[in-house]
Amino acid sequence: MKIAVIGTGYVGLTTGACLAELGHKVTCNDIDEAKIAKLKNGVCPIFEAGLPELLVKHLKTGNLSFSTSIQETIKDAQAIFICVGTPPKKDGSPDLSFMEQVIKDIGATLKHYAVIVEKSTVPVQTAQWMKSLLSKYLKTEFDVAVNPEFLREGTSVHDFLHPDRIVIGTETEKAAKIMSEIYAPIKAPIIHTNLNSAELIKHASNSFLSMKISFANMVAQLCEKTDADIKTVMDGVGMDKRIGRDFLNAGLGYGGFCFPKDVDAFISVLEKHKVDASLLNAVRNINEYQRKHVRDIAKELLGSLKGKTIAVLGLAFKPNTDDVRLSPACMLIEDLQKEGAKVRSCDPQAVENAKKILKDVTYCKDAYETAEGAELVILATEWSDFKTMDLKKLKVKKFIDARNVFDPGKMRKLGFDYRSIGRK
Ligand code: UDX
Repeated sequence: MKIAVIGTGYVGLTTGACLAELGHKVTCNDIDEAKIAKLKNGVCPIFEAGLPELLVKHLKTGNLSFSTSIQETIKDAQAIFICVGTPPKKDGSPDLSFMEQVIKDIGATLKHYAVIVEKSTVPVQTAQWMKSLLSKYLKTEFDVAVNPEFLREGTSVHDFLHPDRIVIGTETEKAAKIMSEIYAPIKAPIIHTNLNSAELIKHASNSFLSMKISFANMVAQLCEKTDADIKTVMDGVGMDKRIGRDFLNAGLGYGGFCFPKDVDAFISVLEKHKVDASLLNAVRNINEYQRKHVRDIAKELLGSLKGKTIAVLGLAFKPNTDDVRLSPACMLIEDLQKEGAKVRSCDPQAVENAKKILKDVTYCKDAYETAEGAELVILATEWSDFKTMDLKKLKVKKFIDARNVFDPGKMRKLGFDYRSIGRK
């Protein structure tokens, strides 16, 4: 099938490359000319496992091409995936102006039937809005579909090709058939639904996962006060098949560009429709608290943080990505700096991105160099490099494990004044 993908961020690029891997002829579009020039030369602009390989492979097979022209991109396309950003506005609701521009561009250019697919995460009823906007501009017949992504950064190629489910929201059989054909090579259940339900599945899923994390963090707070162990508690809770063990790891809280943004956006949707959003407000508050809690443990261990040197291991919002957007590690660094601490840090992939958002951090090559001269080490992102480091080589003995990576007993045997989250 001939497919157009508009927007080459994490979602768009992964979608384009994976659709090419499924055998489709895909053209990806972006307004960023420099980025498109790089992509045409096989240079992948993001750190994402498997993506550079797919890019090179399908530039060669001819299944994948890049363009800055909407006209060229959507020519003969049977489906047009809109994957542009929907960044949060001040009130938490998403800014749909990029989508609106793309819709106008499509409206001005499209001369044949196509399914216009909403991939970006947006509030329920946005596809309805898309449809009415498109019908203002388009003379030709068209359909709108909602096909949310459930891609985790770092494993997005795998997640695309091996999903738990594929959600397809449509209004006509013709659109549902085209969408099913696109995904036919993937072995996964397809949920066919209407446009609004498909949009809600995405927001509800991410809000629910965030809620699981905050729930674990709330219980961790109680564990700290009652001499219980959060890992064991969540193992016991998670063994109930109705609950499941995933996303019950307490720590520094969730970050990244999806969960914080989607929880905020879902709160604004709930409030707009006069539905009580206090559950998700609590999820957000608990998540904020976790970072402050780690800062307070640092104060407990060091007294005032003024002038103290702290080694923060990790900058990315989670391991295996170079993404620092709304990273709990970076936000913790800022909190520590506000208290007057001097911060040294390292990350296997995210240093360059962190440099763009943080000030006055001394960047080091690895955990050992970072810890040199520090009075406290805080493990903020659980990269395997940190999990497997030789702890005996660390001279500093005050250690906050904000991701519960190490065994408290073993750490104490090694002489560390060791703290973690929800464990004694
Ligand atoms: C998430 C969703 O998983 C994905 O389906 C969606 O489409 C995009 O958002 P992503 O943001 O890449 O993906 O990261 P994910 O692996 O889900 O982790 C999100 C955050 O939660 C990270 O900061 C992680 O450290 C944190 N987390 C995760 C916890 O604190 N505890 C957990 O148990 C799990």
